[in-house]
Amino acid sequence: MNDNTIFSSFKFKNFELKNRIGVAPMTRLSSQTDSIPRQDVFDFLVRRAQNGAGLIYTEAIVTDYESAQGYPNQSRLLTQKQIEAWIPVVQTIRKEGAVFIMQMFHCGRMGWPEVNPANRIIAPSAISPKQKNQLTDAPYPIPDAMSRFDMEHVINGFVETAKGAVAAGFDGVEIHCAHGYLISQFLSSYSNSRTDDYGGSVGNRYRFAHEVIQAVRRVVPEDKLLTVRISNWGIADMEVSLFESKEEYQEMIKRFSDEPIDAISVSTYDYAEKVFGTDQNMAQITREVTTLPIMICGKIYDRASADNAIQDADIVLSAKSILLNPNWVADIRDEKSLSLHKSEDANIAYSAEPLP
Ligand SMILES: Cc1cc2nc3c(=O)[nH]c(=O)nc-3n(C[C@H](O)[C@H](O)[C@H](O)COP(=O)(O)O)c2cc1C
Repeated sequence: MNDNTIFSSFKFKNFELKNRIGVAPMTRLSSQTDSIPRQDVFDFLVRRAQNGAGLIYTEAIVTDYESAQGYPNQSRLLTQKQIEAWIPVVQTIRKEGAVFIMQMFHCGRMGWPEVNPANRIIAPSAISPKQKNQLTDAPYPIPDAMSRFDMEHVINGFVETAKGAVAAGFDGVEIHCAHGYLISQFLSSYSNSRTDDYGGSVGNRYRFAHEVIQAVRRVVPEDKLLTVRISNWGIADMEVSLFESKEEYQEMIKRFSDEPIDAISVSTYDYAEKVFGTDQNMAQITREVTTLPIMICGKIYDRASADNAIQDADIVLSAKSILLNPNWVADIRDEKSLSLHKSEDANIAYSAEPLP
């Protein structure tokens, strides 16, 4: 428990958030050519800033042209043209008084060859998720277990994408270590069976995340934010607990806390859910082992849930509620009666129709 309130400001390193409400990263699959989102997807983010969100995340940006992409029509920040497309968006969002962070990801085994220009799928180990890929209705392919060369190539993709974000003027970057994508695949023994320095013990499974964070921090200036996102669930085989115990999860969080990062974003499906057989939620078990700012997300949909969630965190993020309701921040302020959205409601994110 703390004294945080949703509409109090938050000193986030050298930034001042006007409130504790953020737009969670949301993939929109809108890029038609050149890995650049559609204009209405940019406009959607700008509108959320105009309508009062203190913090905005981009969709997950793909980190390289070889194997990082997991879905069709995703975006990158690797070329001058891509950088220039984001510059006016960044400037407008900043003018509206919101802090804007670029999230970047490598999908690892969560893709399929044709979606990547180099037709390759890589992961810590040659193990695919059990569940079918819902987009292709086919099994996920068995990935190539990554070589040291692959690891360096992937790290370089994160670094180049972070440089793109800095060049576009973003306030910070986030490294996606959640949801069963590549870095999460290294962290979890469910997807990592390596017998070298990158598998086995918690320290070994953490090593790749450490190398990515260290390399990225070198190109993200000290006055910009660097955050990581973590979860105990993955997009495929969702019922699986990616960490074996509260202790294992907390060991990972302690390691993240030793890094030069500025916050940990904890992604859940339900912020209030009690985890690992304890009577604590994910934010609470994270708070026990870190002094870094914590963001929490998952089923925060009205004033009561936001007020409740912020008791154990510094910032709340919303995905579905703010996706579907451009006035969500005002509605929260007015304590309007709002309903919880179902997962299927989020499919609207992928329609070609501009969202309000
Ligand atoms: C349309 C959509 C796209 C998403 N894309 C991303 C993403 O790119 N990166 C990410 O970390 N999480 C992504 N998520 C997960 C959300 O950020 C969030 O963690 C999850 O939806 C739970 O929050 P909610 O209950 O407020 O929807 C996405 C969610 C939705 C609905």
